[in-house]
Amino acid sequence: MNITLKIQRFNPETDSGPRFREYAVQVEPTDRVLDALMSVKSSQDGSLGFRKSCGHGVCGSDAMIINGQERLACKTLVREVATEGQVVTIQPLKHLPLQRDLLVEQGEFFARWRSVKPYLISDRPVPEGKERPQSPEERQAFEDPTKCILCAACYSACPILDEKNPRFVGPAAIANAARFLFDSRDTGLAARLPALDRPDGVWACENHFECTRVCPRGIKVTRNINLTKRRIKG
Ligand code: SF4
Ligand code: FES
Repeated sequence: MNITLKIQRFNPETDSGPRFREYAVQVEPTDRVLDALMSVKSSQDGSLGFRKSCGHGVCGSDAMIINGQERLACKTLVREVATEGQVVTIQPLKHLPLQRDLLVEQGEFFARWRSVKPYLISDRPVPEGKERPQSPEERQAFEDPTKCILCAACYSACPILDEKNPRFVGPAAIANAARFLFDSRDTGLAARLPALDRPDGVWACENHFECTRVCPRGIKVTRNINLTKRRIKG
């Protein structure tokens, strides 16, 4: 099938601002949008910038806005977003500084993620020579947010980060805090409160559910935020 990719381009060395360029490509309906981008790069314009690594929805590096919604280019089939002759619009994620074309500066996203201390904190000594035991039910309690691949799709889609509160720690950071707050081995709630229990922390969320809608891993992000709010209230 023939489609047109309308891709946002920006070269900080030569452009005063972003602009769109269109590329006609021939693809199979079952090709991924990532395949279409790679075809543009290899046969039409080698200067096109975008990130990708695993190609299989694991590394989280190719989140972008495809026809207005945050998606992973490697998990989106062309037939899901276009039929013969249609135009597919591709833009970089929002709420992060634009570097070039579809590349955004991810430093602030990861800084906010790190601020919630997304690792096991425990003041209980490990039983000598043993691991910390955990029942299947206790393990299940934090299964959902373990699926996060830190793609930042939710961070881009969150309307709170638009203008209302650009300092909001963001849905991904809170989901990753929940990953540990609901782990029976973890005792790190107090250590995480400075990042979570403040106006820019969990309390900035107004339950718009955009994070849950776009998460390519199907994580119930808003639910994790609300569980974290409840946990903080005690
Ligand atoms: S919660 Fe989902 S959308 Fe947000 S960073 Fe993790 S995988 Fe991506
Ligand atoms: S390239 Fe790794 S998630 Fe898409």
